[in-house]
Amino acid sequence: MADLRVTLNRLSLRNPILVASGTFGYAREMAAYVDFGRIGGVIPKTITPLPRMGNRPPRTVETASGMLNSIGLDNDGLEAFIEKHLGYLLTLETAVIANIAGRNTDEFVEMARRLGEFQRLAGLELNISCPNVSGGVDYGTDPTLTYEVVAAVRGACELPVIAKLTPNVTNITTVAAAAAEAGADAVSLVNTFQGMAIDWRRRTPVLGNRIGGLSGPAIKPLALRCVWQVAQSVPVPVIGIGGIQSIDDVMEFLVAGASAVQIGTANFYNPGLSSALVEELEKTVDAEGCERVVDLVGTLKAS
Ligand code: SIN
Repeated sequence: MADLRVTLNRLSLRNPILVASGTFGYAREMAAYVDFGRIGGVIPKTITPLPRMGNRPPRTVETASGMLNSIGLDNDGLEAFIEKHLGYLLTLETAVIANIAGRNTDEFVEMARRLGEFQRLAGLELNISCPNVSGGVDYGTDPTLTYEVVAAVRGACELPVIAKLTPNVTNITTVAAAAAEAGADAVSLVNTFQGMAIDWRRRTPVLGNRIGGLSGPAIKPLALRCVWQVAQSVPVPVIGIGGIQSIDDVMEFLVAGASAVQIGTANFYNPGLSSALVEELEKTVDAEGCERVVDLVGTLKAS
């Protein structure tokens, strides 16, 4: 049987199939569908220091091969997460990576310090790329700020650090390079693309927040391009995200250079997909005549 283990600097995973923040609740909701003991890891919904109501509804709308959301980081805040969800999450037989968002570097650092007390967490993913909150992408669109926040979090706790990047930039490689230089163990990309849906008869935007973030199969080619460019030019492991819904999609991200992937929007219409993909990945790596999945990473022939 193929060896599916992957190592992203200080973060070791049993296999490269993770589930993306915001598409998997706090895992309890998915327990009936997913074999947590099979998947590589779980990333629960973004936590902020204090509770947030999120944006006004409607907050989601289906689009052609995709979905727009403008949730606005609705969550109960860090202490409620620790009290209500973290205990359960840490009983799961999988890596749990907490996803955090602060309004400034101090907030990121405070959250990292607090979560750093939980040694059984596998890592922290820094959401510096939410398009739906005021200032949400400020960090992820500015390489200097990306460097500042990643370096500060690295200095504040021992947990492996992943920077989740936005595609809403001219050149994602410069932001990834800043994260790598600051000591990120990995970068995950991409978060959603800013988009809009319009009800032309009413002459109104569909989303309460007017604009939102596009995810799902519609963005896969765009995400693949970003992953390939970053993997080629930045010395940091990449976690690919963007419209993955089949084993072929997983393989495309791996050969493009992703060391791991996150399943996102597909969880909403196929909640058992992540564990099914682990089975299929095992078979596909075997069928390729490889002993280890890592031997397939970055094997795209494109000069
Ligand atoms: C949201 O809560 O608005 C979505 C999360 C994100 O885009 O980072």
